Amino acid sequence: MTTPKALVAGNWKMNGVAANLAEIEKLNDLIAGGGANCDVLICPPFTLIHQSVQAAGERVEIGGQDCHANISGAHTGDVSAAMIKDQGCSYVIVGHSERRTDHGETDEMVSSKADAAQKEELVAIICVGETEAERDAGDALSVVTSQVRGSIPADATADNTVIAYEPVWAIGTGRTPTADDVAEVHAAIRNVLTERFGDAGNSVRILYGGSVKPENARELMSVANVNGALVGGASLKADSFYGIVQAYD
Ligand code: G3P
Repeated sequence: MTTPKALVAGNWKMNGVAANLAEIEKLNDLIAGGGANCDVLICPPFTLIHQSVQAAGERVEIGGQDCHANISGAHTGDVSAAMIKDQGCSYVIVGHSERRTDHGETDEMVSSKADAAQKEELVAIICVGETEAERDAGDALSVVTSQVRGSIPADATADNTVIAYEPVWAIGTGRTPTADDVAEVHAAIRNVLTERFGDAGNSVRILYGGSVKPENARELMSVANVNGALVGGASLKADSFYGIVQAYD
């Protein structure tokens, strides 16, 4: 069985102006100085992508936070996967719960966006996760596995797909599931991936996201089938994000 190289990704969400680019330069310097046995990615807002690629150096990759399902056309305010790729990005997040909630994105829409990204040779980070009510009702596994099945495009491969499990109730709250709960959900996602991709499904990275901090990163990253993290708040400062990256030192 192949254990994938971990990916620690930062999602800046709607945060960051030009002054924050120094954090990306500093992050690259910290990693270059201290090593990290994982891939490292920052997904800044679209307005900072160009400058972020220039600031990123050798050890930090840059990605988008969303893309449109079409490659170009009359879609005011939207950004395509081709545009993101053109700026030097290698990844794009799709289906984050904030987009599913704020913009009504369904699994079908997320799958179309992931397909557009993958056709542009970007790796799609497909986000899934249950709400607190769904967990309390005992539906976490069925909700998450259904989202994974419905959000992976027909033409996806194990190489261009990453899944991020982010329980909605853990995002920005300081609360995290127990290690056993994370292990249970990640194992269920792994089963869907091996059903879908065969043995190659074992090489798909499954990230955990939701209140990851330097203090809990080592424990969360050591859970079976956790192959990295998707980090919000703690990715905004180089020092705290590097503290999470160091779970893979
Ligand atoms: O995409 C990352 C995110 O939703 C988790 O945010 O602030 O809880 O780390 P945060």
